[in-house]
Order: sequence, then structure tokens, then C-alpha cells
Amino acid sequence: MESEKDLIGELQALEEEARRDVEAAEDPMELEGVRVRFLGRKEGRVSGILRRLGELPDHLRPSVGQEANRVKGVLQDLLAERERVLEREDGSGAGGEVDLTLPGRHAWIGGRHPVTRVVDEICEIFSSLGFTRARGPEAENEWYNFVALNTPLDHPAADEQDTLYLEGGYLLRSHTSPVQVRTMEQYQPPVRIVVPGMVYRRDTYDATHAPAFAQIEGLAVDEGITFVDFKATLAEFSRRFWGPGTQVRFRPSFFPFTEPSAEVDVKRLLVQPDGSRRESDWIEIMGAGMVDPAVLENAGYDSERYTGFAFGMGPGRIAMLKYGIPDIRHLYEGDVRFHRQFRGP
Ligand code: PHE
Repeated sequence: MESEKDLIGELQALEEEARRDVEAAEDPMELEGVRVRFLGRKEGRVSGILRRLGELPDHLRPSVGQEANRVKGVLQDLLAERERVLEREDGSGAGGEVDLTLPGRHAWIGGRHPVTRVVDEICEIFSSLGFTRARGPEAENEWYNFVALNTPLDHPAADEQDTLYLEGGYLLRSHTSPVQVRTMEQYQPPVRIVVPGMVYRRDTYDATHAPAFAQIEGLAVDEGITFVDFKATLAEFSRRFWGPGTQVRFRPSFFPFTEPSAEVDVKRLLVQPDGSRRESDWIEIMGAGMVDPAVLENAGYDSERYTGFAFGMGPGRIAMLKYGIPDIRHLYEGDVRFHRQFRGP
């Protein structure tokens, strides 16, 4: 004949055992096994004790019944809690089941930004012409951004209306030309560099202006570099970039740091969808010129001995022309519907 102590002790041992089994269950199937073993209608060990309550002597029934119901309640809570944990780990929601009929999630294929494409293409062409890549700081001072480039501080470009000034005599470079001087200070001729980088201007953000945009600077300095080298190099670049049949035109212009200065225009030969050819309008693609001797001197070069040419272009603007992008803001707003068009390598 079982005593009250024996039965209550057995229930508590069952509770401990069930607690361990619930914790050890690794998936919903195992957990269901635990539930059946302890609370199953037919073979559950706790259910078994509850079922046999009626056979117990009157004085044992209330205390054993109470304890058995307590254990049953505790186990139900533990099972429910463990079920939630397993579902969460499984990640597939209700019941831990995976719905294999759902459509798959496609993988996104990234691509290079259109401006990056143009920068890389331009740098590759110049690399094949013997130019290397150089870089310089985006936070500059007035010496490198203006004065060393023969641009007095009362020049309109240096005005606070156009240039973003930082504290302590620094500013955000308004062009990549300061890297001309920084590079010449560091290296002796011959120098042949292209300098891609971001520049900053106090412009309103609209379809054709951005306050931060990319530029590529170029500089070649050596003994005996002439205007012919200047024209031939930039014409060769233009034809390689814009395609054979491209016409190139040098229009007189002015920059404080080049003399003479030019703006370079191209007229492209476009192939129409029906195969026929059409000439584009003249489009301006860069500012350029022979390096002003004052700039060579400011960088510590002997301007009697060395000459050179420099150029600067905007790969953002070039990307717009090349890909037919109507609004510069598309380049900066990260809308995937726009960027999807430039997928792939
Ligand atoms: N720095 C000029 C600009 O930002 C471009 C340029 C570079 C012109 C080099 C001549 C030579 O407009």
C-alpha cells in the first residue's frame, strides 16, 4: 500500500525528470514526445497518477490530487515555453514548419555605381598612357586650394558664397587641383598622375548641381612637354573614351592655374537603333591647359626647366551624358530602381 509520502515524492521526481527532458528537447517532435511521456492521456506518467486517484484511500486523495495537478500545470507551462523557444530558433513561425510552396527569395546582384564605372574607365585609359593614380585630402587649406594655384583669395571662387569653409583655416576642397601641388612637392619630375576624388561647392541641390561631386584631375610635368603633347594626349583619351569617330575641339578659356587654358569639347558619332549614324552636339567634357609657371614654382619646381599640362573633369557629368541620365540627383539618392540598371560587373 502506497503512502502519501511515496506518491508525493514520486510526483516531485517526475517533475524534475520532465523538466530536464523538456530542456533537452531540440525540436518540436522531441518535445511532443516528452509531453506524451508525462501528460499523454494513455501512457503519461503524471496522467497515470491522476487517473488512479480514485483508487486511493480517502485521506490520501486530496493532497496527492492537489500535488499531481500542480505538477501537471507546471509541465504544461514548461512545454509551452519550450515550444516558443524552439519556434523562434527555427525561424519559420508557427509549428516550426517550412512552407516549401512559397516562392524563393532571389539573390540581389550588385553593381558598380555609374560614377565609379566612369572613374575606373577614365583611370584605365590614362593608366595605359603612363599615368598613375594619386590622392589628396578633402579637407584642404587656402594655400593648396587657391593661393598655390595662382588664385588670389579675393577671386570669386574663394568667396564664402562658393566654397564651404571649415574651422581653423580649413575648407572642403572645391576642386582636385590642389593635389597637383601636393604631388609635385612630394615627387620630382617626370610626374604623370590622375586624381579621382570628391570635391565640394556651395551649390543648391537641383537637377544639374550637387554640393558634393566627383572630379578627376590630371597632371603631366616633365622636361620638354609641349602644347602638342597636351592636345594629342587629351584627343587620344577623348577618342578612346567616347569611341572612334569622335571629334575633339579645344576652345580658349581661362583658369588661374593654366596658361594658355582651354575647354575641351567632343562631338560623338552615335549609332542609331536602325544602324545609321548621327553626330551629337558639341559637349564640353573638361577644363585644361598648360600648367602656369607660377604653379610649378609654388610647388618647388624649376619653371625654366619643366613644363606640363593639367586637366580636370567631372565623371558625374560624364556619366549623365554617357548613360543619358537626366537628373544628377539620381546619382546620389540610392534608389534601387535607378541603380538596378547598372547591375553586373
Ligand atoms: N580645377 C578646374 C575646375 O574645377 C578644372 C581644371 C583642372 C582646369 C586643371 C584646368 C586644369 O573647374
